[in-house]
Amino acid sequence: MSGTLWGIGIGPGDPELLTAKAIRLLGELPVLAWPAPLEGDGMARSIAAAYVPVGKVEIPIRLSFRPERDDTDEAYDKAAQTIAEHLDAGRDVGVLCEGDPLFFGSFIYVMTRLQGRFAVQVVPGVSSPMAAAAMALRPLSVLDDAVAIIPATRSDDMIRALLEPAEAAVIMKVGRHLPRLKGLLADMGLLANAVAVERATLPDQRVMALAEAETLSYFSVILVHP
Ligand SMILES: C[S@@+](CC[C@H](N)C(=O)[O-])C[C@H]1O[C@@H](n2cnc3c(N)ncnc32)[C@H](O)[C@@H]1O
Repeated sequence: MSGTLWGIGIGPGDPELLTAKAIRLLGELPVLAWPAPLEGDGMARSIAAAYVPVGKVEIPIRLSFRPERDDTDEAYDKAAQTIAEHLDAGRDVGVLCEGDPLFFGSFIYVMTRLQGRFAVQVVPGVSSPMAAAAMALRPLSVLDDAVAIIPATRSDDMIRALLEPAEAAVIMKVGRHLPRLKGLLADMGLLANAVAVERATLPDQRVMALAEAETLSYFSVILVHP
């Protein structure tokens, strides 16, 4: 019998924010794969480090994380092939995914390559909007608020069009888009309502009014709520 592919959400950074199920699976599954930079362990493997027993078979999925994403397909094709060999041999494989696996998660690239050939199960994880709201002590939504989730990579026009009808918003993938976003939110009269959370729940986390943020890394979200 073939093995099962598991997408394992490991939360936003604090190792105490893994679910009991994720921790159990990290100990039990014979093979673990994780996205990583070209060298070193990267964020997902570091978050899970305390729960990965020594001697586990591990498959780093090496990515350059260049904005052009020109190496992504090849890296995931190669990883999917290696993972498929383990699954064909009857070994279950867990793929670590920062935050939640199906919310902008890297696990999606593995799942889409293997779904249909193998059984797939997903363990949800604490996602960055929830973690950021908790760290900033800011509600994401109340009563019937409509919340927009907006990648900062979208055009100004699209971001405006999504913000306008929403009562609240989470802007993801901030990084180099910070100056543009500050200008846009100021134009819309929303800057005073915006909070930035960088590396939520990690030891070097920063929480600040967006108006005061001068730089923010890719691992940042902006929460907008009146
Ligand atoms: C590729 S998406 C992955 C989202 C992830 N699967 C989740 O559930 O949060 C990466 C984006 O998530 C956000 N993010 C992930 N972890 C974060 C953290 N610890 N603090 C703030 N933002 C984070 C950032 O906006 C980042 O650009």
